[in-house]
Amino acid sequence: MRAVIPVAGVGTRLRPHTYSLPKVLLNVAGKPILAHIMDAIIEQGITKATIITGYMRKNVESFVKERYSIEVDFVPQKESLGLGHAIWTGRDTFGDEPLMIILGDTVFDVDLKLAEKSGISSIGVKKVDDPRRFGVVVKNKEGIITKFVEKPQKFVSDLAIVGLYYIANPQLLKQSLEQIIKNDIQTSGEYQLTDALQLMLEKGERFSTFPVEGWFDCGKPETLLSTNRHLLNKLNHFPSPNGCVIVPPVFIAPDATIKCSIIGPYATVATGATVEDSIIRDTIISDGAKVSSSLLEESIIGNNAHVKGNFIKMNVGNSSEINY
Ligand code: UTP
Repeated sequence: MRAVIPVAGVGTRLRPHTYSLPKVLLNVAGKPILAHIMDAIIEQGITKATIITGYMRKNVESFVKERYSIEVDFVPQKESLGLGHAIWTGRDTFGDEPLMIILGDTVFDVDLKLAEKSGISSIGVKKVDDPRRFGVVVKNKEGIITKFVEKPQKFVSDLAIVGLYYIANPQLLKQSLEQIIKNDIQTSGEYQLTDALQLMLEKGERFSTFPVEGWFDCGKPETLLSTNRHLLNKLNHFPSPNGCVIVPPVFIAPDATIKCSIIGPYATVATGATVEDSIIRDTIISDGAKVSSSLLEESIIGNNAHVKGNFIKMNVGNSSEINY
């Protein structure tokens, strides 16, 4: 099986962080989003990957080349024209072996063998409260998909496509993507993978679904922070440096410097970062950042950023109320 990971997007929703780093290299719970994905696929026995690059592609390539030794083909997507177009860009690396398409801004916690179980193509799904924001699948009684619908405004199904696609017939995917691009079939201004899957279905390909409960989006500040909280909950080693109070769960890189601070819950302090005289919770402090005299909550501090607060001097009389 070959993993196909599209990471070409600009990541506008995560600005200003994505002005200086591609989204997939942002830190969550102690390592970049892409490292969570690569570690998971390698642990599950995948040895080949296609990474569709674009925005800040050199950074992505050098990160992967330095850290991983599996066979990776990097294919640049010249313009971000949609997920369908991104996958089509990688077509020359597809052979006859099945593909596992994994969105580059999603951390997943699922046994990928579940996807192969039915022996046919299979789409990772999760029940959601508001299906209008997602691509969804409609299934028959036998559990076979009868329709793919992108962001349905009228209710057709609450089974959302989460960003994991097992494709048993890559050549038919290639043909279907070719067809939507040649005929300029776009939905919401983009070449959609969902439209190509619908074409595959119409050409006779059978699709089942597999459940994905562990699906953690990293595409927006609030989802990046909630994914950070979720991943930290799974850690159980909490170092306790001198003069600090650690409120688990936290991730503190071995080479981070922590002094006279209360760290956690849900704090990530990445490699080379420094935190002094501060209270930090529900926050990601990225590589090499320096934070001092600060109270931080629900915050994302980028690589090498400096945040310096102040202790204030007060002379407050009885029965006063101060909010600042
Ligand atoms: P998103 O649309 O969520 O990512 O695509 P984005 O475009 O980077 O983010 P925003 O919307 O500007 O904040 C989901 C995944 O598909 C990839 C993205 O890189 C991301 O990993 N993608 C999307 C591509 O590789 N190419 C595309 O043309 C579109």
